[in-house]
Amino acid sequence: MKTENTVWHNQQISKAQRADLKQQKPALLWYTGLSGSGKSTVANAVDALLFKLGCHSYLLDGDNVRHGLNGDLGFSDEARVENIRRISEVAKLFLDAGLVVSTAFISPFASDRAQAKAKLEEGEFIEVYIDTPISVCEARDPKGLYKKARAGEIKDFTGIDSTYDVPVNPEIHVKTDTKSVEECAEQIVGYLMAKGFITQASLQSA
Ligand code: ADX
Repeated sequence: MKTENTVWHNQQISKAQRADLKQQKPALLWYTGLSGSGKSTVANAVDALLFKLGCHSYLLDGDNVRHGLNGDLGFSDEARVENIRRISEVAKLFLDAGLVVSTAFISPFASDRAQAKAKLEEGEFIEVYIDTPISVCEARDPKGLYKKARAGEIKDFTGIDSTYDVPVNPEIHVKTDTKSVEECAEQIVGYLMAKGFITQASLQSA
């Protein structure tokens, strides 16, 4: 627990220096969407494209992080809030290291996404809404979880008996049911280029 005896220690190398070395601007691509919407798939494609372009990036993925750091958390509202709180803190550290970070979590509550945004510098938080109708997610059902949720074998399932707050004004709105994964990835990387997160210099050195 943080007490009055816990003092912040300033580090010699700044975030700006780390980012300059990489010739990029740190950013957080915050993917949000229903289970089966394609967050991990699109985020992976973006991460691979960024890597190819010579960008220093890292992807934090919901299911993977729940195997380790957040292995103690379930899917009650309270546990989801804590899940997102920890992720936003980890992402902030990765941004401090100068990286372009992607987080792929359902992150169903708008208030948690707003809190993650509030932890960062102006413009760094990029909300990426992976907008896939629940009927499409359910038809895909890659992990068979919708079937189990409908059968009552899983409780508190997002979109069925647990809330999902649709993003009101996401920086990037991706419709996966009308586009290929590659097109979705290009849309997102295009945004990063247009906004100067990836500079010409970083691309030329790739
Ligand atoms: S979040 O709501 O806390 O942001 P997170 O993205 O970490 O969720 O984890 C979601 C993943 O956990 C889903 O893609 C699915 O594979 C799995 N899962 C297991 N139980 C549930 C549930 N009750 N609701 C949603 N996802 C679940």
